[in-house]
Amino acid sequence: MRTFSLCLLWPGLVSGLATPVSSPPPCRFVLDWTQDQVLKNTDQFEWDLLYWEGQFHQNNVSYNSDNGMTYDGTQLDWATGERTKKHPFSAASKEALQIMVYAHAIAGSSKAARFLSPEDPKKAPRIATSIMETKLKTYLQFNATYPGFGGFLPWMMTSSQNIEPTWDWVNRVPGLDNGELLWAVYGCISALEKSCKSSDHKLAAEWQKWFDYAKTTVDKVFYQGNGRVCAVTKIGDQTLAVNDPKQSYACESPAYLDDPYEGELFTYFIEFFSGLSKAEKEKLWLVKRAKLVSVEYNLGGIGPITVEQGYWFSGHEPWKVLELPYYDIDIIRRLHHNAERVRTCNSVVTKTPGLFASVNNSTDPVTDEIIGYISPAGIVSVASQKEQEHDVITPYGAWPTIMFDKSVGLAWWWNMLQGKKMQNPYGSTESTRVDGKLVSALVTWDSKITTVVSLLGGVGDLVRRKMKVDGVYDDFISIATREYSRVFRELKGEHVQLCVPKSTVPVAGLEDFTLCKK
Ligand SMILES: *[C@@H]1O[C@H](CO)[C@@H](O)[C@H](O)[C@H]1NC(C)=O
Ligand SMILES: *[C@@H]1O[C@H](CO)[C@@H](O)[C@H](O)[C@H]1NC(C)=O
Ligand SMILES: *[C@@H]1O[C@H](CO)[C@@H](O)[C@H](O)[C@H]1NC(C)=O
Ligand SMILES: *[C@@H]1O[C@H](CO)[C@@H](O)[C@H](O)[C@H]1NC(C)=O
Repeated sequence: MRTFSLCLLWPGLVSGLATPVSSPPPCRFVLDWTQDQVLKNTDQFEWDLLYWEGQFHQNNVSYNSDNGMTYDGTQLDWATGERTKKHPFSAASKEALQIMVYAHAIAGSSKAARFLSPEDPKKAPRIATSIMETKLKTYLQFNATYPGFGGFLPWMMTSSQNIEPTWDWVNRVPGLDNGELLWAVYGCISALEKSCKSSDHKLAAEWQKWFDYAKTTVDKVFYQGNGRVCAVTKIGDQTLAVNDPKQSYACESPAYLDDPYEGELFTYFIEFFSGLSKAEKEKLWLVKRAKLVSVEYNLGGIGPITVEQGYWFSGHEPWKVLELPYYDIDIIRRLHHNAERVRTCNSVVTKTPGLFASVNNSTDPVTDEIIGYISPAGIVSVASQKEQEHDVITPYGAWPTIMFDKSVGLAWWWNMLQGKKMQNPYGSTESTRVDGKLVSALVTWDSKITTVVSLLGGVGDLVRRKMKVDGVYDDFISIATREYSRVFRELKGEHVQLCVPKSTVPVAGLEDFTLCKK
């Protein structure tokens, strides 16, 4: 009875959109908005954003419709903004972003439908399930060909029907990205289970089988003993089965997955679902403790504000809050809110027209080459890594702010997109130099869809539902509370308001893309 009434309800959710399906917003829509308008009329701005970020969701741009797999992204023509070089590879982290959007589409979100199928929102759930069906076949085929991965995914070539490890990931597999993937799949299974269609329940059961298989291999592939999880595992032979007597696994280096940031998603997977003993599981948390550190931000008369120390304090680092319901825990939610006070106000104090996060450097206008990757971008005073580069800002730096205040977060996103070439026919552009002299003419899941997933609220709600069914939710709350309240009790600076941008990216000789100009 209950499922039946849901069946009647949800088509109403999708068709009863706040805004009728009308002509699309202009490609360069941010130039038609002022900061004040974004702050006051945030929902309409968000609606335009979802439309244009959704243009990234195209075959041969962000994914391969033949096998359902993501592509890392696509480079853009420096003058027009048209797509040029496709990145024919991907990784589990990009898969996670794609699957989180689909989870919301399946759950009936009108925002996810705006992204996936603005002309016909009713089609969005079917688009999502159909790609998830295709994707599962690809994953299973990969597992059949390369059983040594134990069901986990390396960086891979996704342009051929059957995916393969990229040349530099032959016989190697990373933990962090797979933690992101596993919880995204978990959220998607939750959405499928909740659906009223029996075909969705069948798909949920098939994905559950894939998920359950990873539970049986994870300790063999990644666990080193003594609470240590490999950051990257070296596989003896990727074509041999996990249990083959000739198979072997070892951490590639003494770099363990013990960070309190994105890597923690994998730790929780091992905690709840691996076959490790209770004593071993306790050690997982002991080895992680050294890196959870309390620091205070003080600059320009702002502060003190207590935050969790970042590695670089890059906007990539809080990713875990998109997937697990961390904000159910008061101290963690408040601490992360403080982080956004620091992230936004630091940029105002330092007169930066945007936010810092690890991102691709500019592209060379002549060769179309990406100059490099800037990992060390964040806030030095609250980071453990002090050598940083602050020449480039990126729109996705705003997603963690959006989790607390959509208006302020989108005001930052808007501010960065005011820069020349920062919109293109596939939505927002990867990054711009703060001096406005170059941009990265590139579109990727990381720099774009983190923001979309944040606007969808992450998948914490879907994940929470299933964690309760699986009986692991209370353990999650108790472990996360235990670890965070060991380090954080009183927080300073909770009265500080989030800051809105006060400076702009200078005009320095660049022109907007001809396919996306006012
Ligand atoms: C997508 O790319 C493949 C090769 O990479 C090409 O054969 C195909 O025609 C492309 N499809 C579209 C719709 O552009
Ligand atoms: C992956 O491959 C292994 C080894 O062939 C097999 O036992 C397992 O069932 C496969 N996993 C899934 C989810 O089918
Ligand atoms: C930067 O480039 C890499 C490699 O192409 C890609 O995986 C990543 O998503 C890009 N963007 C960010 C923000 O990391
Ligand atoms: C980023 O590009 C600039 C040139 O625009 C260059 O000076 C800088 O060294 C590059 N940094 C990295 C990490 O690639």
